[in-house]
Amino acid sequence: MPALSRIPLEAVEEAGGGCLRLVCAPASIVAPIPGQFYMVRGPWEADPLLPRPFSIARFRTVKDEQVQLEFLLRIVGRGTRLLGTAHAGIELDVLGPLGNGFEQPPGDSAWMVAGGIGIAPFPALTDAIATSKRTLSLLVGARTEAEIPGFVDFETNLTGGVEIATDDGSAGFAGTVVDLLASRLQRATEARPSQIYVCGPHPMLEAAAAVCAGAGIPCSVSLEAPMGCGMGTCRGCVIQTFQDTNFTVCTEGPVTDANVIWSSKPAP
Ligand SMILES: Cc1cc2nc3c(=O)[nH]c(=O)nc-3n(C[C@H](O)[C@H](O)[C@H](O)COP(=O)(O)OP(=O)(O)OC[C@H]3O[C@@H](n4cnc5c(N)ncnc54)[C@H](O)[C@@H]3O)c2cc1C
Ligand code: FES
Repeated sequence: MPALSRIPLEAVEEAGGGCLRLVCAPASIVAPIPGQFYMVRGPWEADPLLPRPFSIARFRTVKDEQVQLEFLLRIVGRGTRLLGTAHAGIELDVLGPLGNGFEQPPGDSAWMVAGGIGIAPFPALTDAIATSKRTLSLLVGARTEAEIPGFVDFETNLTGGVEIATDDGSAGFAGTVVDLLASRLQRATEARPSQIYVCGPHPMLEAAAAVCAGAGIPCSVSLEAPMGCGMGTCRGCVIQTFQDTNFTVCTEGPVTDANVIWSSKPAP
Protein backbone atom coordinates (compact mmCIF):
# COMPACT_ATOMS: atom_id res chain seq x y z
CA MET A 1 0.00 0.00 0.00
CA PRO A 2 1.62 3.32 -1.03
CA ALA A 3 2.12 5.91 1.68
CA LEU A 4 3.26 9.53 1.75
CA SER A 5 6.24 9.95 4.06
CA ARG A 6 8.46 12.90 4.87
CA ILE A 7 12.00 11.51 5.02
CA PRO A 8 15.25 13.41 5.70
CA LEU A 9 18.10 13.02 3.23
CA GLU A 10 21.14 11.40 4.81
CA ALA A 11 23.60 11.93 1.97
CA VAL A 12 23.92 13.25 -1.58
CA GLU A 13 26.85 11.84 -3.54
CA GLU A 14 28.28 12.03 -7.05
CA ALA A 15 27.49 8.73 -8.77
CA GLY A 16 29.44 9.16 -12.01
CA GLY A 17 28.20 10.09 -15.47
CA GLY A 18 26.72 13.34 -14.16
CA CYS A 19 24.31 11.45 -11.86
CA LEU A 20 23.70 11.95 -8.16
CA ARG A 21 22.87 9.35 -5.53
CA LEU A 22 20.29 10.51 -2.98
CA VAL A 23 20.41 8.40 0.18
CA CYS A 24 17.42 8.81 2.51
CA ALA A 25 17.59 8.32 6.26
CA PRO A 26 16.11 5.02 7.50
CA ALA A 27 12.33 5.33 7.98
CA SER A 28 9.42 3.19 9.16
CA ILE A 29 8.04 2.46 5.70
CA VAL A 30 7.12 -0.60 3.65
CA ALA A 31 10.01 -2.09 1.66
CA PRO A 32 9.56 -1.76 -2.13
CA ILE A 33 10.01 -4.38 -4.86
CA PRO A 34 12.84 -3.64 -7.33
CA GLY A 35 11.34 -1.83 -10.34
CA GLN A 36 8.76 0.06 -8.29
CA PHE A 37 8.99 3.84 -8.07
CA TYR A 38 8.26 6.80 -5.81
CA MET A 39 6.86 10.26 -6.50
CA VAL A 40 9.41 12.59 -4.88
CA ARG A 41 9.22 16.29 -4.07
CA GLY A 42 11.66 18.51 -2.19
CA PRO A 43 10.93 21.44 0.12
CA TRP A 44 10.67 24.00 -2.66
CA GLU A 45 7.89 26.54 -3.24
CA ALA A 46 5.05 26.11 -5.74
CA ASP A 47 7.08 25.56 -8.94
CA PRO A 48 7.15 22.75 -9.88
CA LEU A 49 4.00 21.84 -8.02
CA LEU A 50 3.96 18.16 -8.83
CA PRO A 51 6.39 15.57 -7.50
CA ARG A 52 8.60 13.67 -9.96
CA PRO A 53 8.80 9.87 -10.43
CA PHE A 54 12.02 8.03 -9.51
CA SER A 55 12.78 4.31 -9.53
CA ILE A 56 13.99 2.79 -6.33
CA ALA A 57 17.71 2.37 -7.04
CA ARG A 58 18.52 0.49 -3.87
CA PHE A 59 17.03 -0.20 -0.47
CA ARG A 60 18.06 -1.98 2.67
CA THR A 61 16.35 -2.90 5.90
CA VAL A 62 18.29 -1.56 8.85
CA LYS A 63 17.77 -1.53 12.59
CA ASP A 64 14.23 -1.76 14.03
CA GLU A 65 12.89 -2.92 10.63
CA GLN A 66 13.42 0.56 9.21
CA VAL A 67 13.92 0.83 5.45
CA GLN A 68 16.58 3.02 3.84
CA LEU A 69 15.80 4.18 0.28
CA GLU A 70 18.29 5.30 -2.33
CA PHE A 71 17.59 7.11 -5.62
CA LEU A 72 19.80 7.80 -8.63
CA LEU A 73 19.16 11.17 -10.23
CA ARG A 74 19.97 12.68 -13.62
CA ILE A 75 19.21 16.37 -14.02
CA VAL A 76 17.05 17.11 -17.09
CA GLY A 77 14.72 19.98 -16.10
CA ARG A 78 13.52 22.18 -13.26
CA GLY A 79 12.32 19.48 -10.85
CA THR A 80 15.43 17.33 -11.13
CA ARG A 81 17.64 20.46 -10.98
CA LEU A 82 16.03 21.44 -7.67
CA LEU A 83 16.44 17.90 -6.35
CA GLY A 84 20.06 18.05 -7.50
CA THR A 85 20.67 20.97 -5.14
CA ALA A 86 19.38 18.92 -2.19
CA HIS A 87 21.77 18.29 0.69
CA ALA A 88 21.90 16.10 3.78
CA GLY A 89 19.29 17.14 6.34
CA ILE A 90 16.57 18.46 4.03
CA GLU A 91 13.29 16.54 3.99
CA LEU A 92 11.77 14.92 0.91
CA ASP A 93 8.09 14.07 0.45
CA VAL A 94 8.15 10.51 -0.83
CA LEU A 95 4.97 8.76 -2.07
CA GLY A 96 5.22 5.03 -2.69
CA PRO A 97 6.10 2.34 -3.37
CA LEU A 98 4.12 2.63 -6.63
CA GLY A 99 3.51 0.44 -9.69
CA ASN A 100 4.72 -3.05 -10.55
CA GLY A 101 8.19 -4.38 -9.92
CA PHE A 102 10.39 -6.92 -11.71
CA GLU A 103 9.88 -10.65 -11.30
CA GLN A 104 12.73 -13.09 -10.73
CA PRO A 105 14.07 -14.65 -13.96
CA PRO A 106 12.66 -18.09 -14.84
CA GLY A 107 16.10 -19.66 -15.40
CA ASP A 108 19.69 -19.52 -14.19
CA SER A 109 20.82 -16.37 -15.94
CA ALA A 110 19.50 -12.92 -16.82
CA TRP A 111 20.77 -9.78 -18.52
CA MET A 112 19.93 -6.20 -17.63
CA VAL A 113 20.13 -3.62 -20.43
CA ALA A 114 20.30 0.05 -19.43
CA GLY A 115 20.19 3.20 -21.53
CA GLY A 116 21.82 6.02 -19.52
CA ILE A 117 19.87 6.77 -16.34
CA GLY A 118 17.85 3.63 -17.17
CA ILE A 119 20.42 1.95 -14.95
CA ALA A 120 18.54 3.36 -11.92
CA PRO A 121 16.38 0.32 -10.97
CA PHE A 122 19.13 -2.24 -11.59
CA PRO A 123 21.18 -2.08 -8.35
CA ALA A 124 18.03 -3.09 -6.41
CA LEU A 125 17.21 -5.82 -8.95
CA THR A 126 20.80 -7.06 -8.75
CA ASP A 127 20.59 -7.27 -4.96
CA ALA A 128 17.35 -9.28 -5.24
CA ILE A 129 18.62 -11.69 -7.91
CA ALA A 130 22.08 -12.12 -6.34
CA THR A 131 20.54 -13.86 -3.31
CA SER A 132 19.22 -16.59 -5.65
CA LYS A 133 22.74 -17.32 -6.99
CA ARG A 134 21.75 -16.73 -10.63
CA THR A 135 24.23 -15.35 -13.17
CA LEU A 136 23.51 -11.72 -13.90
CA SER A 137 25.04 -9.44 -16.56
CA LEU A 138 24.72 -5.71 -17.15
CA LEU A 139 24.87 -4.01 -20.55
CA VAL A 140 24.90 -0.23 -20.19
CA GLY A 141 24.99 2.39 -22.91
CA ALA A 142 25.33 6.16 -23.21
CA ARG A 143 26.30 8.70 -25.83
CA THR A 144 29.87 9.05 -24.50
CA GLU A 145 32.03 7.50 -21.79
CA ALA A 146 31.53 10.61 -19.63
CA GLU A 147 27.78 9.90 -19.51
CA ILE A 148 28.01 6.30 -18.27
CA PRO A 149 26.38 6.31 -14.83
CA GLY A 150 28.40 4.84 -11.97
CA PHE A 151 27.79 1.20 -11.11
CA VAL A 152 30.90 0.26 -9.20
CA ASP A 153 29.31 -0.66 -5.89
CA PHE A 154 26.95 -3.27 -7.32
CA GLU A 155 29.44 -4.67 -9.82
CA THR A 156 30.54 -7.46 -7.47
CA ASN A 157 27.12 -9.14 -7.79
CA LEU A 158 27.20 -8.97 -11.59
CA THR A 159 28.66 -12.45 -11.97
CA GLY A 160 28.04 -12.46 -15.74
CA GLY A 161 30.05 -9.25 -16.17
CA VAL A 162 29.48 -5.68 -17.30
CA GLU A 163 29.69 -4.45 -20.91
CA ILE A 164 29.61 -0.81 -21.95
CA ALA A 165 28.44 0.67 -25.25
CA THR A 166 28.99 4.27 -26.33
CA ASP A 167 27.47 5.90 -29.40
CA ASP A 168 30.77 7.70 -30.14
CA GLY A 169 32.98 4.69 -29.40
CA SER A 170 34.80 6.49 -26.55
CA ALA A 171 34.48 3.37 -24.33
CA GLY A 172 33.59 -0.27 -24.89
CA PHE A 173 31.44 -1.34 -27.83
CA ALA A 174 30.99 1.38 -30.47
CA GLY A 175 27.25 1.71 -31.06
CA THR A 176 24.03 1.70 -29.09
CA VAL A 177 23.40 -0.62 -26.18
CA VAL A 178 20.74 -2.34 -28.33
CA ASP A 179 23.40 -3.00 -31.00
CA LEU A 180 25.53 -4.46 -28.19
CA LEU A 181 22.61 -6.61 -27.03
CA ALA A 182 22.08 -7.98 -30.56
CA SER A 183 25.80 -8.62 -31.00
CA ARG A 184 26.13 -10.37 -27.63
CA LEU A 185 23.16 -12.63 -28.39
CA GLN A 186 24.94 -13.74 -31.56
CA ARG A 187 28.19 -14.61 -29.78
CA ALA A 188 28.49 -18.38 -29.78
CA THR A 189 30.37 -18.28 -26.46
CA GLU A 190 27.54 -16.57 -24.55
CA ALA A 191 24.95 -18.66 -22.72
CA ARG A 192 21.48 -17.40 -23.60
CA PRO A 193 19.75 -15.57 -20.74
CA SER A 194 16.38 -16.81 -19.51
CA GLN A 195 15.18 -13.20 -19.15
CA ILE A 196 16.23 -9.76 -20.37
CA TYR A 197 15.32 -6.65 -18.35
CA VAL A 198 15.46 -3.30 -20.15
CA CYS A 199 15.19 0.26 -18.87
CA GLY A 200 15.76 3.47 -20.82
CA PRO A 201 14.04 5.83 -23.25
CA HIS A 202 11.09 4.44 -25.24
CA PRO A 203 12.77 4.15 -28.66
CA MET A 204 15.52 2.11 -27.01
CA LEU A 205 12.96 -0.09 -25.21
CA GLU A 206 11.12 -0.74 -28.46
CA ALA A 207 14.32 -1.61 -30.32
CA ALA A 208 15.48 -3.91 -27.49
CA ALA A 209 12.04 -5.57 -27.38
CA ALA A 210 12.32 -6.35 -31.11
CA VAL A 211 15.79 -7.90 -30.62
CA CYS A 212 14.53 -10.03 -27.72
CA ALA A 213 11.44 -11.10 -29.68
CA GLY A 214 13.66 -12.10 -32.61
CA ALA A 215 15.80 -14.19 -30.26
CA GLY A 216 12.75 -15.68 -28.52
CA ILE A 217 13.84 -14.46 -25.08
CA PRO A 218 11.31 -12.98 -22.60
CA CYS A 219 11.80 -9.23 -22.26
CA SER A 220 10.65 -7.19 -19.30
CA VAL A 221 10.71 -3.40 -19.80
CA SER A 222 10.50 -0.52 -17.34
CA LEU A 223 8.51 2.20 -19.11
CA GLU A 224 8.93 5.96 -18.77
CA ALA A 225 6.16 8.53 -19.15
CA PRO A 226 5.53 12.00 -17.77
CA MET A 227 3.62 11.52 -14.51
CA GLY A 228 1.41 13.83 -12.48
CA CYS A 229 0.01 11.64 -9.71
CA GLY A 230 1.63 8.20 -9.92
CA MET A 231 -1.63 6.60 -8.81
CA GLY A 232 -3.85 6.25 -11.88
CA THR A 233 -5.86 9.46 -11.44
CA CYS A 234 -4.50 12.19 -13.75
CA ARG A 235 -4.16 10.02 -16.93
CA GLY A 236 -0.94 11.90 -17.78
CA CYS A 237 1.07 8.71 -18.20
CA VAL A 238 -1.27 6.80 -20.54
CA ILE A 239 0.41 5.35 -23.65
CA GLN A 240 -0.97 3.34 -26.58
CA THR A 241 -0.17 -0.32 -27.07
CA PHE A 242 0.32 -1.88 -30.51
CA GLN A 243 -3.29 -3.11 -30.21
CA ASP A 244 -4.50 0.51 -29.82
CA THR A 245 -5.46 0.00 -26.19
CA ASN A 246 -4.55 2.40 -23.39
CA PHE A 247 -1.83 1.42 -20.92
CA THR A 248 -1.56 3.40 -17.69
CA VAL A 249 2.16 3.34 -16.97
CA CYS A 250 1.96 4.27 -13.28
CA THR A 251 -0.48 1.52 -12.28
CA GLU A 252 -0.15 -1.17 -14.99
CA GLY A 253 3.63 -0.58 -15.22
CA PRO A 254 6.18 0.78 -15.09
CA VAL A 255 7.45 -2.80 -15.42
CA THR A 256 5.64 -4.99 -17.94
CA ASP A 257 6.32 -7.66 -20.54
CA ALA A 258 7.49 -5.93 -23.71
CA ASN A 259 4.95 -7.84 -25.80
CA VAL A 260 2.11 -6.09 -23.95
CA ILE A 261 3.25 -2.79 -25.54
CA TRP A 262 4.94 -3.88 -28.78
CA SER A 263 4.02 -6.78 -31.04
CA SER A 264 6.41 -9.70 -30.72
CA LYS A 265 5.71 -10.61 -34.37
CA PRO A 266 8.16 -9.29 -36.99
CA ALA A 267 6.77 -6.42 -39.13
CA PRO A 268 5.25 -7.79 -42.41
C1 LIG B 1 8.61 5.26 -13.48
C2 LIG B 1 9.71 6.28 -13.71
C3 LIG B 1 10.92 6.13 -13.05
C4 LIG B 1 11.93 7.08 -13.24
N1 LIG B 1 13.10 6.91 -12.57
C5 LIG B 1 14.07 7.83 -12.68
C6 LIG B 1 15.26 7.68 -11.92
O1 LIG B 1 15.44 6.74 -11.16
N2 LIG B 1 16.21 8.65 -12.05
C7 LIG B 1 16.03 9.74 -12.87
O2 LIG B 1 16.92 10.60 -12.93
N3 LIG B 1 14.91 9.89 -13.61
C8 LIG B 1 13.92 8.97 -13.52
N4 LIG B 1 12.76 9.12 -14.24
C9 LIG B 1 12.62 10.31 -15.10
C10 LIG B 1 12.30 11.52 -14.23
O3 LIG B 1 11.07 11.32 -13.56
C11 LIG B 1 12.20 12.77 -15.11
O4 LIG B 1 13.49 13.04 -15.63
C12 LIG B 1 11.72 13.95 -14.29
O5 LIG B 1 10.36 13.79 -13.97
C13 LIG B 1 11.91 15.23 -15.08
O6 LIG B 1 11.45 16.30 -14.27
P1 LIG B 1 12.04 17.76 -14.46
O7 LIG B 1 11.15 18.72 -13.74
O8 LIG B 1 13.48 17.80 -14.13
O9 LIG B 1 11.96 17.97 -16.02
P2 LIG B 1 10.78 18.62 -16.84
O10 LIG B 1 11.02 20.10 -16.89
O11 LIG B 1 9.47 18.11 -16.36
O12 LIG B 1 11.08 17.98 -18.27
C14 LIG B 1 12.35 18.14 -18.91
C15 LIG B 1 12.33 17.29 -20.18
O13 LIG B 1 12.25 15.89 -19.84
C16 LIG B 1 11.07 15.30 -20.42
N5 LIG B 1 10.49 14.40 -19.41
C17 LIG B 1 10.03 14.73 -18.20
N6 LIG B 1 9.60 13.64 -17.53
C18 LIG B 1 9.79 12.61 -18.37
C19 LIG B 1 9.55 11.22 -18.27
N7 LIG B 1 9.03 10.67 -17.19
N8 LIG B 1 9.84 10.45 -19.32
C20 LIG B 1 10.36 10.97 -20.42
N9 LIG B 1 10.64 12.28 -20.58
C21 LIG B 1 10.35 13.08 -19.57
C22 LIG B 1 10.14 16.46 -20.73
O14 LIG B 1 9.29 16.17 -21.83
C23 LIG B 1 11.11 17.57 -21.08
O15 LIG B 1 11.54 17.46 -22.40
C24 LIG B 1 11.74 8.20 -14.10
C25 LIG B 1 10.51 8.34 -14.76
C26 LIG B 1 9.51 7.40 -14.57
C27 LIG B 1 8.21 7.56 -15.26
S1 FES C 1 0.66 9.50 -13.41
FE1 FES C 1 -1.41 10.07 -13.08
S2 FES C 1 -2.47 8.43 -14.06
FE2 FES C 1 -0.41 7.80 -14.19
